[in-house]
Formats: sequence, C-alpha cells, structure tokens
Amino acid sequence: MELEPLRDGHGRLIGDLRVSVTDRCNFRCQYCMPAEGLPWLERSEILSFEEIKRLVRLFCAMGVGDVRLTGGEPLVRRDFPRLAAMLAAVPGISDLSVTTNGFLLERDAEALVSAGINRFNVSVDSLQRDRFYELTRRDALPRVLRGLELLASFPEAHPVKVNAVAIRGFTEAEVIPFAELARRSPYQIRFIEYMPLDADRAWSFDQVLTGAEIRAAIEQVYPLEPEPREPHATARVYRFADGRGRIGFINPVSEPFCGDCNRVRLTADGRLRTCLFSLRETDLRAPIRDGADDAELEEIIRNAVWRKELKHHVGEPGFVQPARTMSAIGG
Ligand code: 5AD
Ligand code: SF4
Repeated sequence: MELEPLRDGHGRLIGDLRVSVTDRCNFRCQYCMPAEGLPWLERSEILSFEEIKRLVRLFCAMGVGDVRLTGGEPLVRRDFPRLAAMLAAVPGISDLSVTTNGFLLERDAEALVSAGINRFNVSVDSLQRDRFYELTRRDALPRVLRGLELLASFPEAHPVKVNAVAIRGFTEAEVIPFAELARRSPYQIRFIEYMPLDADRAWSFDQVLTGAEIRAAIEQVYPLEPEPREPHATARVYRFADGRGRIGFINPVSEPFCGDCNRVRLTADGRLRTCLFSLRETDLRAPIRDGADDAELEEIIRNAVWRKELKHHVGEPGFVQPARTMSAIGG
C-alpha cells in the first residue's frame, strides 16, 4: 500500500509521527504532572495494539518514516515490547524510537532492542540524586543511570540520547556536570527549553533557561563548534572543540523551528494533534471503532493534517496553553 505523501496546507511534508501509548507515568515531573498524578484514561479509552498498528500502517503508507513511541511513560504499558515488535514490521518505517524516563530500562532494554527499537531518548534532568528527586518526585536516579548503562551496552541502540529539561533556577547547576558527562560517556546530551505544557500551569517565560545561555556557560569551560544541521532536526548540535563528545540544544521557545516541522502526534486515546500546542484535535478512535475503512480514515487524517498550525505562539500575548499536559500529549 503506497499512498500520496501527507502534506499540510503550508506545504510541509509530514514524515514523523509521535505515538503516545499510555497517559500513565511512574514519575511526577514538576514540569509535567501534579504530585498526585492526573485522572488516567480508562483501559477501554486507550487504543489497542491492533488499532495503533492500523493507524501507523496508514501513516507510513502516506510517507511517514519516523515513528517515536512516547507516553506518559511508554514502558508502563503492559507488553510494550510486543507492540514495538508489531510496529517494527510495518512497511515503510525507517526509524522506530522510544522516549522514556529510563526507570524500567533495566527490565526492558534488551527486549526493546530485539523488538527493533533503534533509537532511545532517555530523560534525565539532574545528575544529583536529591535534585533528581526534587524535580521528578521519585528517588530514582541510580536506577535510571543503571538502565542507561545497560542500554548503552547494545551497539544497536547507539547513539543514546539523554534529554534534560532546562529550567531557570534549577538547571544552571547541572550544566557543567552534563557537559562533562557528554565528554566522558557515549550519550548525546540535549537540553530542552521548558515549555508551557505543565499541569500546574506554573510556566512563565522567565523560567525558560535558553539554549543560548546554556551554551555560553559551557563555552566558558569547554569550547564548542557547531555541527551541520540535519533537515527537521530539532536539536542544534555542537561538538566539543577538542573532539570529545557532542551536546545539543532544543530551543522551541527561544528559536522555534515550526517552519521546518514535519511531525504530528497521536494521543493514547486516539486523537490526532498537529502541534504540541494545538487547541483542536481530531478523533480517530471513534471512526475506527465505528468501522471506518482505510480510505475513510485517510480522508480524516489528510483533512486534519492540512490544517496543521503554521507555528506556535508561546511567549506571545494571547497564547493559550492546551488543556493536555505533555504526559497526555506525548513528548
Ligand atoms: N517542557 C519541556 N519538555 C518537557 N517534557 C515534558 N514536559 C516538558 C515541558 N513542560 C519532556 C520530558 C521528556 C519529553 C517527553 O518531554 O522531559 O524528555
Ligand atoms: Fe512522566 Fe515524562 Fe511527565 Fe516526567 S515528563 S511525569 S517522566 S511523562
């Protein structure tokens, strides 16, 4: 099955699909969830593996090649490696990746690598145990680091990326330790600017520690040189001038990359979101469960994607934060 490429109304070709496989999470990161968690979706509201596979096949037939599985925390979905293997077999997938908080990697890394996951992003926001606990509300740093180490022992999983959300007043103390980790480990560390997708709605513009500020702080100690930017890459990647390691900056707030955005998102309950900050979503679950055929689903998807937002308006007057948090959208 090969269909017309999927295109939006601004001429962007869609090549990247983020699939949230659960809204649940075993962490409670301050920038994402309230301490008590969120009201979780019912089992029946969540797409089944078969439903996810059907949609992924359809997207891939329309030219999507990159599929990233996210949550919540994807590894808490029961039998997640089986879903990964089902998706790895979908024709047209060139890159199947996972974003995880790393807590269950000790249990699942091997199964996921064998299933065909070829890239991993692991979120680590602090390299100090007490500060990690403060931010994620889980005392889990040693376990996450062990999971990372296990993951790195599989050559198929390289390069392993480590993502740190950058928050003013917190992340400054982590910058040089992360730079040093990037220099001595096989991990590619990337700082992500804090975005207004938190449950507590505590985000404010002045809490964003920008990629440029972090880079300047690193350069005081370790000079950096820019690497060429790959198309659709969200990270601006630099190598250490002495050749030891690389470090990246994802700057959605200070340097939006919307013009080049080729991605759409599917939530765990089967809603298509054409932007992280979309205020409108398109239900794909109802048509699937009402017996829509592939041509009908294709039509619904194309219409939704055609209206993909030109850009986000974070930091502009009148910006409206979406009702869903990152955990309910899929990062
Ligand atoms: N701003 C920036 N990044 C966030 N993430 C979760 N919430 C936010 C936010 N408000 C990140 C996680 C993970 C990825 C899924 O998204 O840390 O790396
Ligand atoms: Fe869980 Fe990720 Fe949200 Fe943290 S950011 S609470 S790990 S979904």
